[in-house]
Amino acid sequence: MNFLNIAKSRYSVRSYSNKKIEKDKLDKILETAQAAPTAANLQPVHLIVVQEEEGLAKINKAANIYNAPLAVIVCGDHSKAWKRPFDGKQTVDIDASIITDHMMLEAHDLGLGSVWICYFKPDIIKNEFNLPNNLEPINILAIGYSNEPPANPNRHSTQRIPLSKLVSYEKL
Ligand SMILES: Cc1cc2nc3c(=O)[nH]c(=O)nc-3n(C[C@H](O)[C@H](O)[C@H](O)COP(=O)(O)O)c2cc1C
Repeated sequence: MNFLNIAKSRYSVRSYSNKKIEKDKLDKILETAQAAPTAANLQPVHLIVVQEEEGLAKINKAANIYNAPLAVIVCGDHSKAWKRPFDGKQTVDIDASIITDHMMLEAHDLGLGSVWICYFKPDIIKNEFNLPNNLEPINILAIGYSNEPPANPNRHSTQRIPLSKLVSYEKL
């Protein structure tokens, strides 16, 4: 698929079959994560891959991952992230989110569904996975084989704000 087709045909999957994800597919998703850029290449991120029943049960205490057989907890490391010197803005959320987006699109290209999850209780994830203070769970990417019919790749003309509102040229 060309990139525009990948981006347009991807959709959030909230119903999964219980089929496990093949190791070669997971490895490709993680390799794509590794290729993602981060600010100043500081890579203030850590991925916790969860596929075992015990780990999935821990995540289920904090989030609805729609029974996906695989979840990647994308953690940001506040002790490593770049800070913009002018205002102190830290890029950890951005770095974690580029990685999440890369994995989400790679999963789709491999024929897998996914949904990006921010609606979770961070304290529960921190406790259940014994995260040190510097590591913040930022996103959870649930991945699996979709049980849903594919979404219309042309739905963005109605489900997104029009380009005329999204973009302005040269001035606001
Ligand atoms: C930052 C972010 C957080 C999200 N959090 C959740 C979530 O907690 N639960 C959920 O079901 N979907 C979540 N989503 C999925 C969005 O609801 C979904 O991407 C959006 O409605 C557009 O639909 P589409 O992905 O099918 O194009 C999240 C997406 C993003 C980018």
